Parts: sequence; C-alpha cells; structure tokens
Amino acid sequence: MRLVEVEHVIALVRQRGLARILVELADRIEEDYLRWGEFDKSPRYAAHSPHGVIELMPIADCERFGCKYVNGHPANQAKGLQTVIGFGVLADVGTGYPLMIAEMTLMTALRTAAMSALAARHLARPGARTMAIIGLGAQSEFQAVAFEALLGISELRVFDVDPAATAKFLVNMRDSGLHIVATDTAGEAVEGVDIVTTVTADKRSATVLSDNMIGSGIHINAVGGDCPGKTELQAAILDRARVFVEFEPQTRIEGEIQQMSADFPVTELWQVIAGEAPGRQHADDITLFDSVGFAIEDFSALSYLFDATTDAALHREIDLLVRPADPRDLYGMLQRQLEPEPAIAA
Ligand SMILES: NC(=O)c1ccc[n+]([C@@H]2O[C@H](COP(=O)([O-])OP(=O)(O)OC[C@H]3O[C@@H](n4cnc5c(N)ncnc54)[C@H](O)[C@@H]3O)[C@@H](O)[C@H]2O)c1
Repeated sequence: MRLVEVEHVIALVRQRGLARILVELADRIEEDYLRWGEFDKSPRYAAHSPHGVIELMPIADCERFGCKYVNGHPANQAKGLQTVIGFGVLADVGTGYPLMIAEMTLMTALRTAAMSALAARHLARPGARTMAIIGLGAQSEFQAVAFEALLGISELRVFDVDPAATAKFLVNMRDSGLHIVATDTAGEAVEGVDIVTTVTADKRSATVLSDNMIGSGIHINAVGGDCPGKTELQAAILDRARVFVEFEPQTRIEGEIQQMSADFPVTELWQVIAGEAPGRQHADDITLFDSVGFAIEDFSALSYLFDATTDAALHREIDLLVRPADPRDLYGMLQRQLEPEPAIAA
C-alpha cells in the first residue's frame, strides 16, 4: 500500500510547480462536480469541543472511496501548531482494500484554494483583476497563487489583525509578481476590489465583513466560516447576495447560512458548473461562495495525488495489510510468525 508523506507532496510541487498543480486540481474538482450524481454523499462527521472540531469526510463513487481526517483548532496557532492538519485514505470499492494513505494538510490548502478559484471562475465578474484577502494565515498564500493562476488576479489588498501574519505573507509573496497593498483595516482592504476572500480563524460568530463594506458586483469567497458558531459575515450581506454552496445539507449546519432561516435560498455550485442553474446574472449582483469544504474536493485531491505519485520517488510502500497464504488462515499466519526460531546447530 502506498504512503504519500509531506516530503512526497513537496517533491511533487517541486516537479510540477504550484500554479500548475492548482490548475490541474481545479480541473479535477470540476470534472468530479460534473459527475455529482455518481457520488454517495453525506454531511461530514464532526466531533466538537471547546477547543475546535475534528472531522471525518467520507465519500465514494462506484470505483473509489475517499475519507479525510481533518481538524479546525483556531487556538493551535498560538501554541505553535497548525489550525488545520489532516491526512486521508483512498480505497478500492471493489475489494475494500485501501490503496493509499496521504498527507492532507498541504493538500487541503491546495484543494481549498483550487476550489475557491474554480467557484470564482464561475461566479465573479468576467475580467476581475483585484482581490482582497482578509486573514493571512496558512491558507492565504495558496489562495493568492490559485486566483492568479486561474483568474488572472494581478492585484491584492490584504489585511490581518496580527501584523506578524501580514509580514509573513508579504515576505512569502515578494517574488510573486502580484501587486500587493497591505492595509490597516478590513474595510480598507475591500475598497474597490472585484473579489474578497475571507480566510480567518476564530471560533465565534465574527464580523470580518459588515454590510456597509460590500459594494455591488463583488464576489465574496468566504472560506473561514465552516463550523457551527464560526462565521465571518454579517447576516445583512447574505440578504443582498446570491449564495452558492457545495453540499446544501452540510452548509446549512456549517456555513455562513447557519445565520439564516432554513428556507433561505441557495444554489449548489455543481448546478452552475453543469449549466443547470444560473450563476451571476447581472454585473451588479453580489455573489457569495459560502465555502465550508466538501468531501468531493478531498476525493478529487486524493485521486489526483494517487495518479501523480506512481513514481517510486514520490511515495513509500508500507506494510499495513496482512497477506496470509490462505485468506481464511489469519490465525495460522500469526501462529507461524510466533513460532520460535529453530536453534542453530553448533
Ligand atoms: N472552507 C474550507 O474548505 C476550508 C479549508 C481549510 C481551512 N478553512 C478555514 O480557513 C480558516 C483559515 O485557516 P488557516 O489554516 O489559514 O488558519 P490560521 O490560523 O493559519 O490563520 C488564520 C488567520 O486569521 C487571522 N484572523 C483571525 N481573525 C481575524 C479577523 N477578524 N480579521 C483579520 N484576520 C483575522 C489570524 O490572525 C490568522 O493569521 C480557518 O477558519 C479554517 O477552519 C476552511
């Protein structure tokens, strides 16, 4: 069975380049969204605590099963730990045998950014060139690179409540070629932009964006509100916006729309991608991708990784699965392994 570790994902990025991987991942996610009906879908399992959430995100089509373990612990960062850490498994539906275990922390940042940019490609005004990013933590640079690669965003206006996060972002992006302006408030960051990405981490109903900051025609990519009691937008913005979600039953629990009534109108994004529902209808529409992260995106990422890491330098074979000569003789296999080594004659 294949193990794809952090070093292997880094080697893959070195080989292919980050922008190319983001584009390929977005294509893979789009292909999987187009076969929406083929997937066995459910909202994710979530174990909540005062510290954060631990989630399992299973999904299957008729050939493969994928599942990601992932957390969300906003206070981790102050302890020198990641807010979001994960790993995943891909299995063969025909036998139930796992095919691969893979790191899914870098891959989550990659697939989230690819998904965000894919949604914006379908929803933002054509010709969008400027984006604000609010929240400059682990996910932020991946968002910037994905929006440049998939939409041609060339100017960023960025804000974080922590100046150290802003400084880190500016250093990491200094050779990107993007024109970047750091601002003192979220309000200043969103002034005049085509797209706003909110990607903050705070375990509460925050108001990262208030209604008066949002002008007509803007596309909002709301990434950080992804858990009950953890939102980023003032509800009045949602009243003015056309709202697009990944999987409605999950987003009703976890997304920005948890603030709204159960019949608040939303459109599942796959319908827009498949041409079955309209996306943006007018240049002055406010469109909102209420992103929470859905299992299909991880399935796409795991399948992509499985196909991309066949080279021996990009994975390790591990001995996780038993192989008795007779499948029914599991006990005998164990007994034979326990037998004492024959004494070596002097
Ligand atoms: N929707 C998805 O698919 C998806 C996927 C991955 C992560 N996430 C979520 O995205 C968020 C960011 O994840 P991360 O790994 O980058 O976290 P992180 O802890 O590394 O960074 C979060 C940043 O937000 C900043 N911040 C907090 N409150 C703010 C505010 N009010 N205004 C401006 N900045 C603020 C913090 O200072 C920090 O720099 C988390 O909430 C995470 O759960 C969502």
